[in-house]
Amino acid sequence: MVSTGSPPEATAAWVDWVDWAVERFGHSLRIACSLAVEDCLLVDAVAERAAKLGLARERSPSVFVLDTGRLHEESYQVLEALRERYDLEFDVKFPSPERLEPLLRAKGALSFFASTEARRECCAVRKVEPLGRALLGASAWMTGQRRTQAVTRAELPVLERDEAHGGLAKVNPLALVNDVELRAEVERRRVVVHPLHGRGYPSIGCAPCTRAVSPGEDARAGRWWWEDPAHKECGLHPARVTPRAGSDT
Ligand code: ADX
Ligand code: SF4
Repeated sequence: MVSTGSPPEATAAWVDWVDWAVERFGHSLRIACSLAVEDCLLVDAVAERAAKLGLARERSPSVFVLDTGRLHEESYQVLEALRERYDLEFDVKFPSPERLEPLLRAKGALSFFASTEARRECCAVRKVEPLGRALLGASAWMTGQRRTQAVTRAELPVLERDEAHGGLAKVNPLALVNDVELRAEVERRRVVVHPLHGRGYPSIGCAPCTRAVSPGEDARAGRWWWEDPAHKECGLHPARVTPRAGSDT
C-alpha cells in the first residue's frame, strides 16, 4: 500500500516520520542499517508500522547493511538478532571485488591510516559504491543520522532530496532526537542494542576506524580519530559545515 499523503511537520515526532515514510513508499523504501542503536530503533518502528498496516514482508520496506568486510564481530551478532526478530527483508551489500582487490593489491589492508584522501578512497570502495547498488530501484531511503552526532550534521533536515542518488527522498526521522530521548525510546521499545555501545562506543563503524571514547568526549571522537572533525564523513552522507579558511573541503 502506498499513500500519497503529504509529509508531517518538520518538528513532528520521529515516529510520525517513520509511519509516514512506510505508508508513502512501502516496499520502495530502504532502511540503511549500520547496526548502531539508532538504526535498530528505526527497524523496530518500521516493522511495527508495516505490521499495523498488514503489509506482508515482500510489500514492506526492506533493510540494507553495507558490509564493508571490516565490521566488528558484534555487528554481525546484532544483524542476526534483527533477522530473527523482524519479518523484514535484510539485504547485505559487499564491496565489489573489481574495485576492492586492486586497492588491496596497490595499497594494502591499512591504506586508510595514510591520509584523509586514502581513507575516503577506502570508504568509496567499501561503502559508497555498494550504497549505490543498495538503492537501485528505490524511491526513498531512511537513515539514523542525528544532528547532535557530529558538527557535519548540525543542519541535517528530517526530509531531503538525495541528489547524489538521482533525487531520491531521504528521510532522517531521528534528526532532531537528542541522546536522552533516544535512550528513553530504546528502553521503552526494548530494541536490540549493539554490545559496543555499553563499552564506550557511541558511534559504530568499521573496526579499524572506530574506537571507544572517554566520558565527556565528543560522540564522534571515536571515528577516524586521527582526522579533523570537519572531515569526518565517509561519503554516504553530505557534510553540512561551512569549510574554514584554509580547509580543503
Ligand atoms: S558514517 O557515514 O559516518 O558511517 P554513521 O555511522 O554515523 O555514518 O551512520 C549514519 C547513518 O548512515 C546510519 O544511521 C545508517 O543509516 C547509515 N549507515 C552508516 N553505516 C552503514 C552501513 N554500514 N550500512 C548501512 N547503513 C549505514
Ligand atoms: Fe575503510 Fe575505515 Fe572507511 Fe571502513 S571506515 S570503509 S575500513 S576507511
